[in-house]
Amino acid sequence: MLINRIFSGNDAVYGLTEKAVNDAVQQHGADKAVGFPHTAYCLPCYYAVTGVKIKTLGELQAALGVVKSLMTREHALDDALMSGVATALCAEFIEALKYLDGAEPYQEPCYGHLADSIIRELGVPLVTGDIPGVAVILGSAPTAQEGVDLIKSYQAQGILVTLVGGIIDQAQELGLKMGYNLRIVPLGKDVTSVIHVVSVALRAALIFGNVTPGDAASLLTYTKDRVPAFVNAFKPVDDVVLAAGAGAIKLGFPVISNEDENIVEVPGALIACPNVADFNKVSLEARGIKIKITKVDIPVAFASAFEGEIIRRKDMRVEFDGSRVDCVELVQTKEMNEVEDHKITVVGPEVDSFELGSKHSLAYVVEVAGKKMQPDFEPVIERKFHNYINCIEGVYHTGQRDMFRIRISNDAFAAGFRAKHFGEVLYTQVKNEFEAVVDKCQVTVYTDPDECTRMRHEVAIPTFDKRDARLETLTDESVDVYYSCILCQAFSPSHVCVVTPERLGLCGAVSWLDAKATNELDPNGPCQIITKERPIDVNLGSYEDVDEAVKKYSQGALEHVTLYSIMQDPMTSCGCFECICGIEPFSNGVVIANREYAGMTPLGMTFSEMASMTGGGVQTPGFMGHGKHFISSKKFMKAEGGIERIVWMPKELKETVAERLNKTAKELYGIDNFTDMIGDETVATDPEVLVAFLTEHNHPALSMDPMM
Ligand code: SF4
Ligand code: NI
Ligand code: NI
Repeated sequence: MLINRIFSGNDAVYGLTEKAVNDAVQQHGADKAVGFPHTAYCLPCYYAVTGVKIKTLGELQAALGVVKSLMTREHALDDALMSGVATALCAEFIEALKYLDGAEPYQEPCYGHLADSIIRELGVPLVTGDIPGVAVILGSAPTAQEGVDLIKSYQAQGILVTLVGGIIDQAQELGLKMGYNLRIVPLGKDVTSVIHVVSVALRAALIFGNVTPGDAASLLTYTKDRVPAFVNAFKPVDDVVLAAGAGAIKLGFPVISNEDENIVEVPGALIACPNVADFNKVSLEARGIKIKITKVDIPVAFASAFEGEIIRRKDMRVEFDGSRVDCVELVQTKEMNEVEDHKITVVGPEVDSFELGSKHSLAYVVEVAGKKMQPDFEPVIERKFHNYINCIEGVYHTGQRDMFRIRISNDAFAAGFRAKHFGEVLYTQVKNEFEAVVDKCQVTVYTDPDECTRMRHEVAIPTFDKRDARLETLTDESVDVYYSCILCQAFSPSHVCVVTPERLGLCGAVSWLDAKATNELDPNGPCQIITKERPIDVNLGSYEDVDEAVKKYSQGALEHVTLYSIMQDPMTSCGCFECICGIEPFSNGVVIANREYAGMTPLGMTFSEMASMTGGGVQTPGFMGHGKHFISSKKFMKAEGGIERIVWMPKELKETVAERLNKTAKELYGIDNFTDMIGDETVATDPEVLVAFLTEHNHPALSMDPMM
């Protein structure tokens, strides 16, 4: 019965797809280009499953035959599940047709196809458990309220929620705020739009997992073991939805439904759950997702899903703005007897006495004490404040140190949120996350403007200056050990980052100090000490110790890794790099593109296309993923001559790194305003125009040795 229904749903979808594709070929011709925007994987699902890139309508038509071959009709569960996969591929074909001629078929709030860059962004939070799972909610809930409650329950757990069909209207009806930044992503109203989340899961396997396109068995193992997704399907579940659900089950994603008619449960895979209020619990159990619960004693919600929430001027009660008045956030190490655990003090007036929409000073100082606490950990803890404060519902934080800006929304204020609650949040989170080094913690929140000025100028700035001076002297030569980071192995099983003072992790989120603190907090965790006692070639940055470490932590997948070369045994990339650099042969230089840049580079590739050659934990000489901060490092491809090789960067990235990069160029080569010599998209996106520009500006790379 169940199997027959899946077959019939699959047949129906296949019929529609065949007709749509044939019509499209008739209308536009077989040579018409087909594909999704901002991806290097053409039709990603079809490519992942078969290894074939579809680029034209003619190829799409031919691919129908391949899909048909998956639609076996033996009466066994696995035939049914493969028909589910065939249904998913059909859905991808139908969705791809919507994008013909550069059309933008999806309007707010729906997203439709999701760009490769979003998948890379998801890497780290999925790995750290910050996003513990991905929910796919399909259909219309019995009532709008039940639907929204379900969405919110996942959101409060940090789960990324994708929506397909009537649930989107229900969410809009009740005014639910949606968007990728809130971890609620409405995909589309047609059931076929569910393919856009499947596409994310399959591209994750290609990007992070180094799964060979076409190796369907590894692909399915990857999604089953490493992508924590599940489906909630509301009744009525018709044959088509059931067929799509079979595809999800084949990928390892359980389907939970309140359907009570004509459904046979498949243990662990297709689960009946009559009460929508129980969906959350049943789903997490079925997918084995564990939620880190942090109970913070404040009157509004606290969850990582609120991290990306933006508070607009018209919605804010008050603002604290470090660019206008004295603001500062600071961690200070104290003696045990100087700290009273969980003491929270507010110095100055509470928010109640501030006028609506006004700007004020704010300082919060977190004093910590612990036997294993070191001043080196202060900036590591402090940098998390942005994340902690942003997790408060209705509170928004940008910037850091004495240049932060915080807004408290009218809603949060009305719910009772006050300045003292910053203290509560900081206390709870610091104690939670840094319990291995912080035994006691107290927080003072200053709203008194004179006190803020005093704290900023007399206490904090001298501390920051001292720390910056310490960072300046932290070079690869000045330390005794480096650190490995294997956090991304959850997705990229053979990837290892080697983190040094002058080369941070490619995600941009793990500096040498971070790695050191992580090692201290969790000695058996992702960051392990790598000694550097047996150098092989100092210029390349190769060490026997490093080789041994990467071999061990990659389970033998890697034998040699150099720290400073892009050509010889370069470091691998998981997929969540902030930037990629790749060699540009006409100028003897390298081009760097950052994830946010969607345009073309002089390599004839977009960031996505460069990235598709770089990830998956494999070494790709000539291409390297790295953090933004690394661009101004003296160790940036030092073996090939260093930053002098940089010939092109997107304008925005160039502006972000200009100050530090120019400083390094001056120090290393005596070049003034080096960034003026570097091309960007306003100058050239093809190599010939670029070389002309470089020649005109006398760029040093032109006279360097070729790299290959
Ligand atoms: Fe992943 Fe490397 Fe960043 Fe660690 S340092 S989180 S392994 S990218
Ligand atoms: Ni001042
Ligand atoms: Ni990663």
